[in-house]
Amino acid sequence: MTNKYMYFVANWKMYGNLSSLNTLDKVIKFSKSKEIKRGRLIYCPPNTLISSFSKKFRNCQIGIGGQNCHESKNYGAHTGFVNCHMLKNIGAHFVIIGHSENREKGESDKLINQKIKSALEAKLKVIFCIGETLNEKRKKKTYSILSKQIKTGLKNIKNKSNIFLAYEPVWAIGSGIIPKPQDLLKTVKFIKNKFKDRSTKVLYGGSVNPQNITNLREINNIDGFLIGGASQNAKKFIDIVKKTYT
Ligand code: PGA
Repeated sequence: MTNKYMYFVANWKMYGNLSSLNTLDKVIKFSKSKEIKRGRLIYCPPNTLISSFSKKFRNCQIGIGGQNCHESKNYGAHTGFVNCHMLKNIGAHFVIIGHSENREKGESDKLINQKIKSALEAKLKVIFCIGETLNEKRKKKTYSILSKQIKTGLKNIKNKSNIFLAYEPVWAIGSGIIPKPQDLLKTVKFIKNKFKDRSTKVLYGGSVNPQNITNLREINNIDGFLIGGASQNAKKFIDIVKKTYT
């Protein structure tokens, strides 16, 4: 159990349509209840739903974010993409950048750095994902990979107060496997030590669910969770939040 202020970010990935909006009623009600105590819920639906989510959440404190953005802050001939100003314009306050599912498709640390700069300029808060693959973990390269991702991803960014780090080991995403608590504690400590600012927030992501949250909540340097699969089910998402505090 924790009394810390925690962030719960729902990453819906490429799931959801207009009928999913009905499932949010429960979450809206929950967000206004005392049970949530000290915490913030943030939904990152696909771009097609940001505007509808924004209207739906008009009278509550739930945040909204995009799942990626184009690196350019300008409008332009980039078929199929949206930039951060466009996300902001339809109601987003956050954007996930550097998710491993996009890194796998060739998104480099350098490109991620450009995207983060562009997002901060548009006054979006950034959820910056980092994490090692299974192969890198086996080769004991976790810390060097994280260092490189952080160093290049945040190059020439002085003010980091609007950046949340999300540590998502690639092998834990969607696999049902989570890191050993002692390893996670050490890795989050390692990440936080990279920052002079002690208030840097580090979230954990990868197979978070209502069962394993009772172990994860004990890791006292974690500031919240980035939740994929389980967040698409309102009951599971609410259970995760409730169990973090009870
Ligand atoms: P998962 O996804 O919770 O389904 O493992 C997390 C993520 O990819 O952000």
